[in-house]
Amino acid sequence: MLNPMLKLEDIKLVVGKGTQLERTILEGLNLEVEKGEFLVIIGGNGAGKSTVFNTISGFMKPENGRVIIDGVDVTKKSQQERAKLVSIVMQDPRVGTMENMTILENMAFSFKRGQKRGFRLFNNEGRRSLFKEKISLLEMGLENRLNEMVTNLSGGQRQALSLVMSIIAESKILLLDEITAALDPKIAEHVMALADKLVREQKLTCVMITHNMEHAIRYGDRTIVLKDGQFRKSYSREEKASLTVFDLTKEFTDA
Ligand SMILES: Nc1ncnc2c1ncn2[C@@H]1O[C@H](COP(=O)(O)OP(=O)(O)OP(=O)(O)O)[C@@H](O)[C@H]1O
Ligand SMILES: [Mg+2]
Repeated sequence: MLNPMLKLEDIKLVVGKGTQLERTILEGLNLEVEKGEFLVIIGGNGAGKSTVFNTISGFMKPENGRVIIDGVDVTKKSQQERAKLVSIVMQDPRVGTMENMTILENMAFSFKRGQKRGFRLFNNEGRRSLFKEKISLLEMGLENRLNEMVTNLSGGQRQALSLVMSIIAESKILLLDEITAALDPKIAEHVMALADKLVREQKLTCVMITHNMEHAIRYGDRTIVLKDGQFRKSYSREEKASLTVFDLTKEFTDA
């Protein structure tokens, strides 16, 4: 890959360092994600998928190896310093949004995060119409509820709002960690389709973790399997076209 947006090089990650619970979760892990690529990660519970995300966001520091975002080595940079580069949406819809603030205030918060300090391109009216335009992409009618508190929204609506907020932040990489796991099947399909649409339309570089094998087949340019601390297998879009849920599920049972 010539100019990957994300590169993980020979990552080793240990948890519980210096305690009896010390364990190596990732070792010799490598990954490259192309600009504009939509990559899907699957793997068993406890395989270390969220740990990979924590390594990218800077929440966890590797013992060994390098994290490179858009050509810049960020391995030693703190989570705060990486906040403009990486957006994460997680499983729990309550985490991504602030419930005691309105939809508008939530969006303004993300917008500010993406801006350089003191930089004011939009006046209030300009911002409002930008937010309206972005939230209309959801087709959930939320553009008419901008002044409503986020507590009033359902889990699916909050998850959709989290997605839009991560787009407004204009970070370089979007990480989606089981974003549909807490949603009912119908809303889960809607939110997944929405995520796909936003990633494609906004040409985002996105890495998604999922336990939904249908989603792992249908969405993304490539699906990779995390096992024993490394990415063990990779399926291209063409290979995925002939995969069944049964085939992929076997990844979890094969020794
Ligand atoms: N802060 C921590 N301290 C100790 N152990 C941790 C910590 N974070 C993760 N682990 C351990 O690392 C392993 C990998 O966890 P991780 O959350 O990355 O798995 P996962 O692949 O995301 O699993 P799931 O599919 O269940 O979300 C687990 O055994 C977990 O208990
Ligand atoms: Mg996880």
